[in-house]
Amino acid sequence: MSGAMNFKNCGSVLVTGASRGLGLQIVDSLATGGFSPGKIIATTRNPASAQELQELAETHSNIHIITLDVVSQQSIEKAAEEVGQLVRDEGLNCLINNAGINVVANFQTVTAEMMIENFHTNSVAPLMVTKAFLPLLQQAASRGGAGMGIQRAAVINMTSLLGSVELNWGERADNFKWYPYRTSKSALNMVSRCMAVDLEPDGILCMALHPGWVRTDMGGPEAPLSPEESISSILSVIGGLTEKDHGSFLHYTGEPLPW
Ligand SMILES: NC(=O)c1ccc[n+]([C@@H]2O[C@H](COP(=O)([O-])OP(=O)(O)OC[C@H]3O[C@@H](n4cnc5c(N)ncnc54)[C@H](OP(=O)(O)O)[C@@H]3O)[C@@H](O)[C@H]2O)c1
Repeated sequence: MSGAMNFKNCGSVLVTGASRGLGLQIVDSLATGGFSPGKIIATTRNPASAQELQELAETHSNIHIITLDVVSQQSIEKAAEEVGQLVRDEGLNCLINNAGINVVANFQTVTAEMMIENFHTNSVAPLMVTKAFLPLLQQAASRGGAGMGIQRAAVINMTSLLGSVELNWGERADNFKWYPYRTSKSALNMVSRCMAVDLEPDGILCMALHPGWVRTDMGGPEAPLSPEESISSILSVIGGLTEKDHGSFLHYTGEPLPW
């Protein structure tokens, strides 16, 4: 049985960056896949321009759209308050930190500002978002019994294989010489591991997941995977996570990746 079926046992899932690309596909697949969680909280920095998301929400009453710009602390706090009112005593079961940007620059073109911009969105924001939602995750975890997984509470950080320090060597190092993006995802990997250590006593599973190379605005038209293919596999992996996956860095197929 696909791990995705476990989303039926999950009260709420929050996705950042749900206006397009992988975030939108997560919301779509969760809503239409036959294993829909209680509440799908789709966050976007600009709901008015998220046309496809609005259309999905019109036909699926368990999709709740909330405004969230992940690089604004004020926006993060406001969103956490709104989500708190939505989930109430049940808390938040699954937080997917998906929003991300790719500031493309190599050794010759990179600037300090480019590094900081990419770091803010990809590494700092998932940490600040998780901090703000921690009381809601703790609330869900405290109600969920023993073990770890999305039926209790989990934080999934959408990282990239390009953040692997070990894999950026030899032939592979000739591709994608993107300083801001690669280093921001390496930092996100460390954030994931640090949070896994800190959130373990609360029973909150925390891990980093690579979605594969996917045909989105970021992945481009040459990527081998469609959003549907990537997310179908990702939801199966996320749904099947247990304590053995706590603190892991996984490929969208579920295999471990080297840090
Ligand atoms: N596609 C791939 O091949 C691939 C591979 C490895 C990892 N990933 C990772 O997977 C995640 C999703 O990628 P994608 O391919 O779906 O990218 P995408 O098509 O470029 O979409 C990015 C999403 O992030 C949102 N976003 C960016 N900055 C934000 C902010 N400050 N606040 C809130 N939302 C913000 C965008 O919202 P707006 O519409 O408002 O701009 C959009 O919804 C990213 O973390 C990316 O690094 C992707």
